[in-house]
Amino acid sequence: MPSHLIIAIDGPAASGKSSVARVLARRLGYVYVNTGAMYRAVTWHVLASGVDPADQSAVLSLLASTTIECDIAGHESAILINGVDPTPNLVSEAVNGAVSTVATISQVRSQLVALQRAYGEKSNSVMEGRDIGSAVFPETPYKFYIDASVEVRAQRRAKQGLQDSITQRDKLDSTRRTSPLVIAEDAHVIDSSHLTVDGVVGEIIGRLKIKGLLPTEF
Ligand code: DC
Repeated sequence: MPSHLIIAIDGPAASGKSSVARVLARRLGYVYVNTGAMYRAVTWHVLASGVDPADQSAVLSLLASTTIECDIAGHESAILINGVDPTPNLVSEAVNGAVSTVATISQVRSQLVALQRAYGEKSNSVMEGRDIGSAVFPETPYKFYIDASVEVRAQRRAKQGLQDSITQRDKLDSTRRTSPLVIAEDAHVIDSSHLTVDGVVGEIIGRLKIKGLLPTEF
């Protein structure tokens, strides 16, 4: 069991989980942890180093000589790769296209999962990703799975002006061998297709009241 509370928010690409997790964390005074950013940061480093993301042994030998530091800055997770902040590069088309491939590598996952679990020792957190409720913190009683139709998710990415082959990523994320995207048995599922961010946050808060984490007057 982690020494702090973890609210797990999982779901497919562009389901709205990042916005929801950030707003929820702010309302609760918890740290917002974006685990997709960790897989993206490693992918950026792989590409920037000229390594083929599909070449698992080359990726792993690069990682063996890479320092990954995860911390908290302004109530949000922050990552440094060999001392460099990769944030401006994380949603590039190249990273979008390669991140699910890098995320299939089991040893990459175990290294990042260890860093994610370390947040559970630092602070109460709202942590979003693909496998937080199913694999990273399976013991947390606070699990949510946010979904939306493929059409709505594609529209959201287009509105953000981002190129992202979400159906391709969905397929890779759901069929990989190590901790694929699944709905944890005890997760509360929310379809955000026709909901605003505040609407989804409201539903989560309602659920957290029922579970006794928050007082009814919250
Ligand atoms: O949430 P996101 O779209 O930024 O995540 C980018 C990719 O990282 C996603 O396609 C799969 C991978 N990922 C993962 O495998 N496990 C997580 N907990 C978070 C992300």
